Amino acid sequence: MNFIGIDVGTSSIKALLVDPSGKVIATSNPEYPFQTPAPLCAETDPEVWWDATCRALRELLLVTDAGTISGVGLTGQMHGLVVLDEKGAPLRPCIMWNDQRSFHECKEMTEKIGESEVLRITGNPILAGFTAPKLRWVEKNEPEIFSKISKVLLPKDFIRYRLTGEFFSEMSDASGTSLLNVGERKWSEEILAAMGWPKHWLPELTESTVASAKISAQASALTGLSVGTPVIAGGGDQAAQAVGCGIVQEGMVSATLGTSGVVFAQSDEYRVEPGGKLHAFCHAVPGKWHLMGVMLSAAGSFQWYKNQLGKEEHAREQNGDGNAYDLLTKEAAPIEPGSEGLIFLPYLSGERTPHPDPHARGAFVGLTLRHTKPHLTRAVLEGVSYGLMDSLSLMQSLGIQPGKVILSGGGARSTLWKQMLADIFETPCCLVNATEGAAYGAALLAAVGCGTLASVEEASKAWIAETEQIEVSQNHEKYKSNYRIYRELYPVLKDTFFNLSSG
Ligand code: XUL
Repeated sequence: MNFIGIDVGTSSIKALLVDPSGKVIATSNPEYPFQTPAPLCAETDPEVWWDATCRALRELLLVTDAGTISGVGLTGQMHGLVVLDEKGAPLRPCIMWNDQRSFHECKEMTEKIGESEVLRITGNPILAGFTAPKLRWVEKNEPEIFSKISKVLLPKDFIRYRLTGEFFSEMSDASGTSLLNVGERKWSEEILAAMGWPKHWLPELTESTVASAKISAQASALTGLSVGTPVIAGGGDQAAQAVGCGIVQEGMVSATLGTSGVVFAQSDEYRVEPGGKLHAFCHAVPGKWHLMGVMLSAAGSFQWYKNQLGKEEHAREQNGDGNAYDLLTKEAAPIEPGSEGLIFLPYLSGERTPHPDPHARGAFVGLTLRHTKPHLTRAVLEGVSYGLMDSLSLMQSLGIQPGKVILSGGGARSTLWKQMLADIFETPCCLVNATEGAAYGAALLAAVGCGTLASVEEASKAWIAETEQIEVSQNHEKYKSNYRIYRELYPVLKDTFFNLSSG
């Protein structure tokens, strides 16, 4: 009996077929673009995800019979606003997690509800990336659409609706809406009442391992899955990613270098960082919570850099000389840690942790005639690592002192980058055998939800093992002074960034 994990990603659907021992048998990864109709905006038509999901499932079912699938687990990009009419059709494109248009609405909602109430109830400030301020934006700017809303869903829960005809969500993804009472694990009546939004717009909530719905006849015809196959609640992509690399016990910490960058710590108790800079969300491990710092452009900064300044490496890749990222990092490796006084600020799409500021921008600070392209490359990797360190140090200030940090995401494949992270964190870092991220976590949650594995903790023991440990090298001292300077830069440039954005 096998399991399927589906990740409704920013730029692709990732679907995995996993056997009961945790081995990935097949993957499918159809891509799609997202639109940026105006500055600070990011949208995708949910139908595009659905088409890609159907294609991915049909592709997986080429390698196995639908009868072997015990359950399907769902995960996806968090915070997106999907609004449906009474027939279940999307009323507009999804306003995505990386869309920052609703910063005025965040202020307005915070003033209305009260800053300390917001933090008490939702564990977090209301941020432009989150779902509720986007709904308020639609209410103010698109009243025609707002008046037709019958359901408000997160991206993966829209896919669940299409697969099963049912409206369900779960605690981890719901945590990123600013509508959940995170401590009590239920929709917040107070916030809904303050905003005048009806509770029946929101889906029913379960824990992440609950088999909440079943494949419908309509979805079976489109995907090839058997009618009645259980669909397990799953989790937001960060919680599922953490489950998928073994972060299932108190105090365990991971750092993920995907497009966004995340530092994630499991917590058995509900605790809130007093400044509200770390997200305090429910975990996909039933009854547990987590703290999380999110950078908006982590490996995404390196991707931007490669696309803009790595044309030569791209051409070499086309000629079969190796991967463009590897070619860039190979040349950056001999440069001194600290890039000879050059610092990169990675705020290319604004920032969330520790500076919740949609107007923040990227910068190279400290350029001299001596600096070469490999210095720039190294500075980009260092700047992203310092950004992750900002989140880790907020966790350390709450007494979370991990003995090691589990690394995941595409960036963690780089020898240079993973050593840099161990040195900047001053903490050994580990890699694990499971490298498929959130979709793998969703498959693991499906295996638990179907009863094949007893609990998320047991499943993690059975499926996930460490493969490599990276020790802290003597370079950590060299990074320390640069990191101190890095931390001085955002406060100095904050107003300048704002002026540049409004100019
Ligand atoms: C998490 C976050 C992103 C998105 C997209 O808070 O905003 O990680 O979920 O992956």
